[in-house]
Amino acid sequence: MSERRLRMGIAGLGRAFTLMLPTLVADRRVQLVAAADPRAEATQRFAADFGTPIYDKVEAVCADPNVEVVYVATSHEHHAAHVAMATSHGKHVLVEKPMAITLTECGQMIAAAERARVCLIVGHSHSFDRPILRAREIIAGGAVGAVRMINAQYYTDFLYRPRRPEELVTERGGGVVFSQGAHQIDIVRLLGGGLVRSVRALTGAWDPNRPTEGAFAALLSFDDGAFASLLYSGYAHFDSDEICGGIGELGAAKDASQYGSARRNLRRAANADQEAALKNARNYGGADYAKQHSAATPSIGGTDDARWHQHFGWILVSCERADLRPLPTGVMVYGDDEARLDPLPRPQVPRAEVIDELYDAIVHGHAPLHDGKWAMATLEACLAVLQSAREQREITLTHQVAVPS
Ligand SMILES: NC(=O)c1ccc[n+]([C@@H]2O[C@H](COP(=O)([O-])OP(=O)(O)OC[C@H]3O[C@@H](n4cnc5c(N)ncnc54)[C@H](O)[C@@H]3O)[C@@H](O)[C@H]2O)c1
Repeated sequence: MSERRLRMGIAGLGRAFTLMLPTLVADRRVQLVAAADPRAEATQRFAADFGTPIYDKVEAVCADPNVEVVYVATSHEHHAAHVAMATSHGKHVLVEKPMAITLTECGQMIAAAERARVCLIVGHSHSFDRPILRAREIIAGGAVGAVRMINAQYYTDFLYRPRRPEELVTERGGGVVFSQGAHQIDIVRLLGGGLVRSVRALTGAWDPNRPTEGAFAALLSFDDGAFASLLYSGYAHFDSDEICGGIGELGAAKDASQYGSARRNLRRAANADQEAALKNARNYGGADYAKQHSAATPSIGGTDDARWHQHFGWILVSCERADLRPLPTGVMVYGDDEARLDPLPRPQVPRAEVIDELYDAIVHGHAPLHDGKWAMATLEACLAVLQSAREQREITLTHQVAVPS
């Protein structure tokens, strides 16, 4: 175990932070040293849990001399401004996906990090999941031959989880293309080598009460001739976790009694304010969160020994000499003569792969995979999904970067 710990300050103690907290608490390479959020219930809980300074403004976290890396977990619209604040104070940055909502913002964020000579990593996205990284290693090893085709599908109730109003407005980064495409496209790019040549897509906005895209279908072609078919529904009643071994996105066994709970819960909100309050209630510091994680609960955020790796639905990679299927337990390799599981041990720390990359970049100077240029290329493909659907034509991409060999 290394002695060096990254002194991390948090910008935004909402859903994303709540999901990263088990990692940040369990991974000894990170020390939480400050946080900012306008929600007093969240900052007060942070001060009680970690005994650190708390702020209501992101600028103050960035200016705190004890902070060396800022985790920007505010909404997409704020990413560019908050990354600029962090880099202007010379801090390294981990910023949530999607990197931003325009390519111009991405360019500004990359330039700011370069000027300040700090690391910029974009995540968590599910392309950090160990089974995806293992599938990529198998491909890079050469035994299965070149990737020819990828199929990725995910059916969830994403659109019916409680949302802030702007999460239902596409122009402000709302809808599943920005929030969920950022995971699915990132995975497909990683498995396919990174260089997407073109995108043809259709989107669905089927619920007038939630007037943003809740579904998409996209066909991606890669420079080397490979292609990928992606399907995402956030309107689903079917749950893809059923075909992922009954294991949920966060790696824990799915509780069948929770069927329909997102829609049931949402019926409690009579208007947008009540819905935003529902969202905050289940996040760090909120009333529902407090019920599950009392001060006496040792594992803040809910780590346990029964988890497998996280996932983002059904994925099959057709290679020249085998098909690969990443699973929460490893990677199934379907060859000519046998089908075998390339097994992975249970994760000790969920999402440790994010800290691996952050730590290696900051402490050892290794170039990260999920840097600004990588994430900008994924955003370019997300934007192309929206544009292709709008204009009913194929969109050619120009900002793509390859997976480093
Ligand atoms: N990787 C993942 O699994 C994952 C999961 C959820 C969200 N996300 C990403 O995280 C980002 C935030 O989404 P969310 O769902 O957590 O939203 P959220 O509303 O739950 O959290 C945002 C938090 O930021 C705070 N905030 C708002 N304005 C602020 C400001 N000016 N300064 C400081 N704090 C401020 C809010 O009070 C809130 O607590 C999005 O980009 C989203 O895509 C990632």
